[in-house]
Amino acid sequence: DAHFPRDEKGHLLIGGVSAVDLVAQFGTPLIAYDEGLIRDTIRAFHRVFQDEGVPYQISYASKAFCTMAICQLAHEEGLGIDVVSGGELYTALAAGVPASKLHMHGNNKTPEELEYAIESGIGAVIVDNFDEIDLLADILQETGRTVDVLVRVAPGVEAHTHDYISTGQQDSKFGFDLASHQVEEAFSRLKEVERARVIGVHAHIGSQIFDVEGFRLLADRMAGVYEDGLRRFGLPFSVLNLGGGFGIPYTDEDAPPVADLVRGVIRAAKAAFAARGMDVPVLWIEPGRSIVGPAGVTLYRVGSRKVIPGVRNYVAIDGGMTDNPRLALYGAKYHACYANRAADPPDRPWSVAGKCCESGDMLIWDLPLPDPQPGDLLAVFATGAYTYAMASHYNRIPKPAVVFCRDGEARLVARRETWADVARLDVPLR
Ligand code: LLP
Repeated sequence: DAHFPRDEKGHLLIGGVSAVDLVAQFGTPLIAYDEGLIRDTIRAFHRVFQDEGVPYQISYASKAFCTMAICQLAHEEGLGIDVVSGGELYTALAAGVPASKLHMHGNNKTPEELEYAIESGIGAVIVDNFDEIDLLADILQETGRTVDVLVRVAPGVEAHTHDYISTGQQDSKFGFDLASHQVEEAFSRLKEVERARVIGVHAHIGSQIFDVEGFRLLADRMAGVYEDGLRRFGLPFSVLNLGGGFGIPYTDEDAPPVADLVRGVIRAAKAAFAARGMDVPVLWIEPGRSIVGPAGVTLYRVGSRKVIPGVRNYVAIDGGMTDNPRLALYGAKYHACYANRAADPPDRPWSVAGKCCESGDMLIWDLPLPDPQPGDLLAVFATGAYTYAMASHYNRIPKPAVVFCRDGEARLVARRETWADVARLDVPLR
């Protein structure tokens, strides 16, 4: 891989740091990010918008990987940050990101979360449903605060991706249903909410999308919704947020560069507004996976093996579904290779298993590899998004450490949990 070359000993390099040195210092499992790659990706996103000459805002969907360091990096690189819970909001604020650069999503923001957001002076709230309008009205009334609001629309656009991560279809828990006129109802109710400035509309059709067609349909439909809110309801609109969802390659499948997809989305929006004789509003996107996914590599230590003659070969690593539940949840596919030795030709297929007590705890099925030895280091690629963020303590397994690597230097950004950390909140009987 061009992003992850090897040194003269055949050791994998991440941000110019040898994977062997990384695990000697930080242990395994370890999630190592190529920090330069994250920054380059963000800069490429900025360039596309600048090339296309449209007003824009890019927010990092922190759900993909939320720690203080990534929030700081995103802010440094000129991104806003999308948060979906009190915990993500807390993390971004604790990282020193100004509240005005944050916006909050969620289909069931609790009163505490919404109050926290409003009291902090959050940049925008994406209002999801009628109950939330009432809650928002109460909080604005009590606090005397003002807030910018986007209306989340369920646009009835199907994205071609896994059902569980597809969100734009009509039958979804998110947003106001366009087909049954809930969006218009939301516009008219929000108009009556004092101190809520309704600045635009939002839709997100799903995640891990490669095809621009869904976005084209979305842009067209949302331009209509935007025009309606602006002209018929007289709302002070200036923003169209088209969500995130830009796909990344996980294995050696062919994937278009993500910047091309973003360019396609921008052009679709331009065309949709041009067709209505309107200026393009501030185009807002909120990518998560595409920013951090490709830059993350998880390093595991090989432990035990089990060869079942004529059936399958298992190799177990010292992590699994607790640090990466994506195969178990979505049947996700990954690529991996050894990080401590040259990329030799494979001997046979090996299935990479985790250490949890269930059979579904797998990372990769039937990956052609040179035969593993205990102590080998296995690097699993494209694990920067929705891995650490979705890590669990199943079997009381501590969360791995996370490092950022750049120009040959590694920086710890999340400490490894200890066994004591895992039991920290327990209240023993005696
Ligand atoms: N905006 C909204 C409203 C979203 O719901 C999401 C993702 C994003 C932006 C960012 O989407 P991205 O650019 O990362 O695709 N855990 C799943 C992915 C769930 C995505 C949830 N929403 C996975 O591991 O594939």
